[in-house]
Amino acid sequence: MASLDGKVAIVTGSSKGIGAGIAERLAADGASVIVNYTRSDGTADAVVARIEAAGGTAFAVQADISKPAEIQTLIDASLQKFGRLDILVNNAGIYRTDTLESLTAESFDAHYALNVRGLLLTTQAAARVLPEGGVIVNISSGLAKSPYPMVHVYCSTKGAVDTLTRSLAMELGPRRIRVVGVAPGFTATEGNAESAKGMTDFLVAKTLLGRVGLPKDVAAFVAYSVSDEAGWITGSTIDVAGGMIF
Ligand SMILES: NC(=O)c1ccc[n+]([C@@H]2O[C@H](COP(=O)([O-])OP(=O)(O)OC[C@H]3O[C@@H](n4cnc5c(N)ncnc54)[C@H](OP(=O)(O)O)[C@@H]3O)[C@@H](O)[C@H]2O)c1
Repeated sequence: MASLDGKVAIVTGSSKGIGAGIAERLAADGASVIVNYTRSDGTADAVVARIEAAGGTAFAVQADISKPAEIQTLIDASLQKFGRLDILVNNAGIYRTDTLESLTAESFDAHYALNVRGLLLTTQAAARVLPEGGVIVNISSGLAKSPYPMVHVYCSTKGAVDTLTRSLAMELGPRRIRVVGVAPGFTATEGNAESAKGMTDFLVAKTLLGRVGLPKDVAAFVAYSVSDEAGWITGSTIDVAGGMIF
């Protein structure tokens, strides 16, 4: 029996990158997975197709997590399609370069609407239906604790995510629902392919293991975090970064 047999998971922003890796891994471990996307329905369908080809179960749902009115769509889809919800992975996030000089109110609002408000409102909606034993994983970043000035706004959203991981775990602990933060280091994805050009050697040199991180590296730790094996872990954010200090 696989570790997540019978469980149902939502992974926000899972048509690409780290989220796609997490969706595929949780499905491989036995969970039925809601694959969430905003624009790229072709890539979400491809993730679902890969999961099904490997013998798993998944369903793609369009919902923009930065828009509060669309968030409930995800929870409803989970209940209608699979009858329950056990696991929420808050992965959807944007990152843009914002120096002190170049940052704008629009960029600030876009980051916070998705990375912080979206994460919190999705958790609120999920918490209404999660059973005892449910798990929420918040995807943070090593940049929360080790920030860079050229990404002021992004780093600060991930600091907020770490604070929420702690406070949500405090609120949900009495219901035996765990909340775990996972902080990747530099991870090669579609989203940062352009911005990482020319910086890969620099970033690899900051790891202790001498390579880029991959979505499957993060996914493996998320799979452990949502399993019963991690039943004593809550309220903490753990680095999955090859020892990288930014
Ligand atoms: N990559 C890294 O080095 C790294 C390091 C540390 C932390 N992280 C964190 O890991 C998470 C994933 O990053 P990534 O690099 O894998 O990103 P990515 O390659 O850009 O993929 C982002 C995913 O999120 C979806 N998405 C974007 N906006 C959304 C919205 N408003 N509502 C719902 N889904 C949305 C995208 O779907 P559509 O294309 O359909 O919009 C896509 O599936 C983020 O929270 C990021 O901050 C990444």
